[in-house]
Amino acid sequence: MKKILPIVICALLSTNLYAQNDASMGIIPAPVSVEKHSGSFILDKTTLLVSAHAENARVADLLNAFIASKGGFALREVKSPEANHKAIVITSEGADKLPEEGYRISITKDKFLITGKGAGLFYAVQSVMQLLPEKQDGKITVPAADINDYPRFKYRGMHLDVGRHLFPVAFVKKYIDMMAQYKLNNFHWHLTEDQGWRIEIKKYPKLTTIGSSRNGSVIGNYPGVATDDKVYKGFYTQNEVKEIVAYASARYITVIPEIEMPGHGSAAIAAYPELSCFPNEDTPTDPKAPWAGSRKGKQVQQTWGVHQDVFVPTENTFKFLEDVLDEVLVLFPSKYIHIGGDECPKDFWKRSAFCQDFIKKNNLKDEHGLQSYFIQRIEKYLNGKGRSIIGWDEILEGGLAPNATVMSWRGVEGGIASAQQQHDVIMTPGSNGLYFDHKQSNSPDEPLAIGGFAPYTKAYGYDPIPAELTADQQKYIIGVQANLWTEYIESPEKAEYMVFPRMFALAEIAWTQKNRKDLKNFSEERLPLHLARLDKTNTNYWVPTPIGQNDKVLKGSQFNIELKVPVEGAQIYYTLDNYRPSESAALYTGPIKVNVPEGKKLNLKTIVITKSGKRSVVTQTELNNGAPDAPAK
Ligand code: ACM
Repeated sequence: MKKILPIVICALLSTNLYAQNDASMGIIPAPVSVEKHSGSFILDKTTLLVSAHAENARVADLLNAFIASKGGFALREVKSPEANHKAIVITSEGADKLPEEGYRISITKDKFLITGKGAGLFYAVQSVMQLLPEKQDGKITVPAADINDYPRFKYRGMHLDVGRHLFPVAFVKKYIDMMAQYKLNNFHWHLTEDQGWRIEIKKYPKLTTIGSSRNGSVIGNYPGVATDDKVYKGFYTQNEVKEIVAYASARYITVIPEIEMPGHGSAAIAAYPELSCFPNEDTPTDPKAPWAGSRKGKQVQQTWGVHQDVFVPTENTFKFLEDVLDEVLVLFPSKYIHIGGDECPKDFWKRSAFCQDFIKKNNLKDEHGLQSYFIQRIEKYLNGKGRSIIGWDEILEGGLAPNATVMSWRGVEGGIASAQQQHDVIMTPGSNGLYFDHKQSNSPDEPLAIGGFAPYTKAYGYDPIPAELTADQQKYIIGVQANLWTEYIESPEKAEYMVFPRMFALAEIAWTQKNRKDLKNFSEERLPLHLARLDKTNTNYWVPTPIGQNDKVLKGSQFNIELKVPVEGAQIYYTLDNYRPSESAALYTGPIKVNVPEGKKLNLKTIVITKSGKRSVVTQTELNNGAPDAPAK
């Protein structure tokens, strides 16, 4: 008889130990350094909250409100310490010596000192809110420690496409809140698309009366199997935009608007057909794509993908774009304005006598030269207004605009080429797990998505600094961003499902120093805590599969399977009889012991169900004792 060793899959199930044992004290993104000491600071209702500087009052209030909700008591806020009272002290003294956005936290038995300034202090308080343990017997016992922290990258971004689907102002604020909690500092707001123009521009009202409305949306993956035949419309008023920009700014987040050009302009062209090379031609629509209403005239697109009707480079178009940007500049104080530049098909420019003549008159090489001309002209306009442009990596084609920052999305090559040309770069490659519209697992339980495979571990494993660059060139990589394209994301709940926990991984690659990254610690110690918080706050997320299980085939005769819940407080249910697990299946309470006779195999199927009732996909592991390779039935 063959001797086969028992297989132990993973570590013990445990709940309360997560944060206490964690080298990062439960903080995501992991700080630069955490030194733990013996002893602890007891936080109770007699503790004072000391904050001497008026400009720190908002941050002090934020912390106090958090303590009130966690501990059930608010602290007395004072300007200076008082004898016989332990205190949390918030200060900017000495903060000038800290790195940009950096902070320090020092927790001893007698004093809880938080040092930082502006964004640094705000981030210090975010870390404090994450590290505070649960209240026990009316007090919160915080282990003594010294934390020193600052970011790896200055640009840490999340993108949201509101062109394909629109999200309520309240949701955009929640998105911004979540970004701030995880020390992300740039919100890239993708506002204009083929399927809808989403920002009020007073000089061009038809952008929103016509351009923000499509007659239907396709059902299913591109090009769609049917149309829902429902008008889909909406836009953000300038007042709403101002509200969101101010909301973000109060959380140290810059909002970067994206106004797409010269492609992805069908909605603007539907409103103002003269922006097209062929104003009198019908909008080209895919004959395979289902369609609601008339296909005649200029139309806002109803299916996804890339569309041919792009902006014509007339003086009228440039005047239109400059007018639009003038209003955008008033609303958004950001240094950067994103002007798109991606996926601009050249078919119409090739066919247009005006464009061909334009190429000749301006000594341009070809249509790529025209694309480059277009971007450079807009860059010049925006530089003249004191702003800088960001463009997707297609802006490399035909020559980069002199001061442009490049977002590398089609892999990392565009970023490498741009850094080699001494242009700033933001890495956001879809190939490396930063397209959060991609699927998080290969399970058939996943909802409709564009495709791809981008579990959070893929984003976590990505290093935004390409090894191909010299040390000098690496300095041009100013940061990293993840994108949420919303063709297949029609609700806030689904947006949250796609974003979490991947945004936590993004935060860690954007903020945490490379030598502090630790996937095992992230997945097994910190994610379970952070996901449990989402569970409590009515926030949707992708529930990871049990820690210690994967969908591989395990060989052996005796199995001793130890699993750990991926969300604190969740349960794992399992079957060994090939049925789909649910609450009525066996509850995992300790190692699953299985003996598989020689020549046989069976499937362990698990599901994680969280306290709020959220469910993971079903994970299946084949336990095989020399059975043939065909899947176990
Ligand atoms: C992009 O994903 N088209 C930038």
